Amino acid sequence: MEHKQWWLDGVGYIIYPQSFLDSNGDGFGDLNGLRSKLDYLRDLGVNILWICPIFDSPMDDGGYDVRDYYKVNPLYGSNEDLDCLIREAHERGIRILLDLTLNHTSIEHEWFKKAVADPNCEERGYYIIRKGKRENGKLLPPNNWESFFFTSAWENIEGTDDFYLHLFSPKMPDVDWSNPKLRERYHEIARHYLDRGVDGFRLDAIAHIAKAPGLPDSTKAPDSTGFVPDTDMYSNRPEVLDYLREFNELVFSHYDCLTVGEAGGCISPEQALKLVNKKDGPINMVFNFDCVWQNGAWDSIGKNPEERQLDLVNLKKNFLRWYEVCHKQADMPLYWCNHDHPRVLSQYGSKDYRTESAKCLLITLLFLYGTPFIYQGEEIGMANPAYPSIEDYFADAGERCEVPALRKQGYSDAAILDNLQRTSRLSGRSPIPWNHNENGGFTSGTPWLKLGEEYKHGINVLDEMNDPWSIINFYQYAILKRRLPDINETVLNGELQIIDIENPDIFCYLHDGTEKLMVVSNFRPYEVKFDFYWRIKDVVLHNYDSVLLDNHTFTLRPFESFLLKV
Ligand code: NOJ
Repeated sequence: MEHKQWWLDGVGYIIYPQSFLDSNGDGFGDLNGLRSKLDYLRDLGVNILWICPIFDSPMDDGGYDVRDYYKVNPLYGSNEDLDCLIREAHERGIRILLDLTLNHTSIEHEWFKKAVADPNCEERGYYIIRKGKRENGKLLPPNNWESFFFTSAWENIEGTDDFYLHLFSPKMPDVDWSNPKLRERYHEIARHYLDRGVDGFRLDAIAHIAKAPGLPDSTKAPDSTGFVPDTDMYSNRPEVLDYLREFNELVFSHYDCLTVGEAGGCISPEQALKLVNKKDGPINMVFNFDCVWQNGAWDSIGKNPEERQLDLVNLKKNFLRWYEVCHKQADMPLYWCNHDHPRVLSQYGSKDYRTESAKCLLITLLFLYGTPFIYQGEEIGMANPAYPSIEDYFADAGERCEVPALRKQGYSDAAILDNLQRTSRLSGRSPIPWNHNENGGFTSGTPWLKLGEEYKHGINVLDEMNDPWSIINFYQYAILKRRLPDINETVLNGELQIIDIENPDIFCYLHDGTEKLMVVSNFRPYEVKFDFYWRIKDVVLHNYDSVLLDNHTFTLRPFESFLLKV
């Protein structure tokens, strides 16, 4: 089936609802807060919102631990608030993607409670529950797999020899997709929301929904936790395609909806194409992980600063690798970061060149092949807040598991804090400052997570809007350009060429279609020379107020960036 493609003139925006805007003073962002900013989002130029999970949840992992798929999290509002949000977004031409967690539920989900209470009930078969191994009288997990949260992937069910599998937090048991009854439950949930008017889903962690049959031990070497992180066992297995095909056949294909899977686990573009190709792929796009963390920051606690530099050549090659496989075959989302990463300004940009680097990152992303997704706060140049203590980072389930593991490995608290300040995903979750008043106007109460200090010094929506040269005003203008039909056509259908791909400092590419669009971006906080023999017809976007081009050589200042017509 050829998919309908309303999203192809779209620019997406990622909402972490807890941190967006609080309307009732309880310190948590909520749906009515978001609803009150729909005009803001429309004016920014975005028209697809991916909203991170909003379902009822004990919030062990920011709502990815779902307690009830049919109820809006009371922290965020009510089911009626969701209906209003959908309606009012649609009135503004904005589409809504909900985040559907398919790989696990919360331990507080009714299914799991029943599964634990009664080994013979239907729900028992919804989860992956196995007997542990007895060795010398000691009860061990059924196999040696490691969770993504740095512990054994198994948790004992108290008072029994049984364990349940959890690839993420111990409070998020994995569900068993090989069970047709379980799959049906998810089809019903998806139908329910599509019938209520949502425009599609971001499908959480789909790479992991199928596990190696028989759940064997990994034969790879364990890491310092004593367990084995082995994506061969639980990521991108062939059955994922079968499950999603069925999902598409029974549900998605009956609606005009967009489905974007989250595909980690080292998925290759070729594997991804099976899921998303326009001819018979069961979903529309996947978020891959290949363009994030290209600065050596991942797992970098023991590394020195020289090993933590942006590898621009690799970054460019990764964009190209995905483009080469997907162009004309599949749609692709583009993003610099989301709620699972530290702020991109702190990763690839620079606080010393905040305005320049934020604009440079935007220009570079917007005109690559794909549908761009902006993460909330990027439009005002938010950086990592650098919380002062390790405990501040315990607001995140991943860090609550990681810190003890690092301490066990012998790292000092000073090293751990430095690592958290650089790499924690909590940094991307600090609340949005809407103005320079107390708590940035995010809440009239106590925010669930502290804001950084920067909002007091101009890094907030109001002050940004009042400055004609600000990042936010540049965003509005650049997104407007990106959505012009000729430019959109060139970006999506023109041929992409990365110029001088081995250049370690400059990201330069040409999109050759109805227009010839060229981006030239200096990704360094210092001046770089760049030879340039193209005839410039127009400077469409530029983040400095003069051009230094002499005898076919650009002198590109820190993070200087252009979108040119050539
Ligand atoms: C991916 C989500 O983006 C992340 O925040 C979450 O921790 C895991 N999936 C588990 O649901």
